[in-house]
Amino acid sequence: MNIFVTGGAGYVGSVVVDLLVRHGHLVTVYDNLERGHAGAVHPDAALITGDLRDKEAVAKAVADSCPEAIIHFAAYAYVGESMQDPLKYFENNVSGSINLIQAAKNAGVSKFVFSSSCATYGIPRELPVTEETPQNPVNPYGESKLIVERILDWTHRIHGMDVVVLRYFNACGAAGTLGEDHFPEPHIIPLVLKAAADSSQVFKIYGDHYETGDGTCVRDYVHVKDLAQAHLLALEPGLSATLNLGSGRGFSVCEVLNVAETVTGKTIAVQVAAVRPGDPPVLVADNRKALSVLGWAPRHGDLAEIIGDAWNWSVKNPGGYSNCKRIK
Ligand SMILES: NC(=O)c1ccc[n+]([C@@H]2O[C@H](COP(=O)([O-])OP(=O)(O)OC[C@H]3O[C@@H](n4cnc5c(N)ncnc54)[C@H](O)[C@@H]3O)[C@@H](O)[C@H]2O)c1
Repeated sequence: MNIFVTGGAGYVGSVVVDLLVRHGHLVTVYDNLERGHAGAVHPDAALITGDLRDKEAVAKAVADSCPEAIIHFAAYAYVGESMQDPLKYFENNVSGSINLIQAAKNAGVSKFVFSSSCATYGIPRELPVTEETPQNPVNPYGESKLIVERILDWTHRIHGMDVVVLRYFNACGAAGTLGEDHFPEPHIIPLVLKAAADSSQVFKIYGDHYETGDGTCVRDYVHVKDLAQAHLLALEPGLSATLNLGSGRGFSVCEVLNVAETVTGKTIAVQVAAVRPGDPPVLVADNRKALSVLGWAPRHGDLAEIIGDAWNWSVKNPGGYSNCKRIK
């Protein structure tokens, strides 16, 4: 297939692009490189450096590339930042998505796969979270994703575009030469590993009085390799669906810390800090719908494997992608 991938230079997007290319698909990446890395993009994929908020540039890129499918990763994705600057999130994640969806419709694109998030559920009343659990986001990031889900639902209903919404839980791990390199880094596993690698760094636990087993937040960690596989399956022609992508198991921050110490063999310095506004106590997926609709089940759900892959990547790439070039 000819596939247009926004945000394909980012963490999850680059792993998906790599898998798509290796499966023989023709891939065009559209990314402004603000939070991604050219060196993470598979050299056999075309890379267009452009911004989704530039409506004309997006329309031209999509029309020129004439894709059969679009996979839309590009977004700002930090909960904390969204609580400080919500309009920045709505402008990029919502307006940028509208520009892309409009371009897709005008170019007759038949399939649209969207990276949504468990952040759309807010603080769920039931656990594990199913796709029917009411969505009440507690931060602007989650709200921005929910708004795009709704826009896509109407686009599907009125224009007949096939839409697959994938609600990821916590993406993590690494895939060969591809790993997680954000600045600033907001995600727990790279942060705990930075503290393992550098004894001058302290790993912060944001709140230890939640109503959970050990008082720290519980999350569902899904390996980026498993996420990538789900995107491949989501490209099936004619398929429209909304699916949770999670491992179905929850681990607390303290459990992540303990596994990280075991995997790395290091003692990690820890400090308990204030809770972060907009952080739900527990998010764990019911992932059975993805199994029945896509035939997808996580194969790399073991936390030691996830952290081990991330650790190996960070040891091999201490500067992240800073020295990595896109070499054909
Ligand atoms: N990482 C997670 O745990 C997680 C969980 C749930 C959902 N998601 C969603 O998955 C997607 C990918 O997440 P990620 O962790 O890979 O993020 P990322 O920040 O690593 O990648 C996002 C990419 O999009 C690009 N981008 C952002 N705004 C753009 C714009 N206006 N125009 C062009 N490019 C732009 C960035 O440069 C970056 O390369 C995001 O939509 C995110 O909301 C991620």
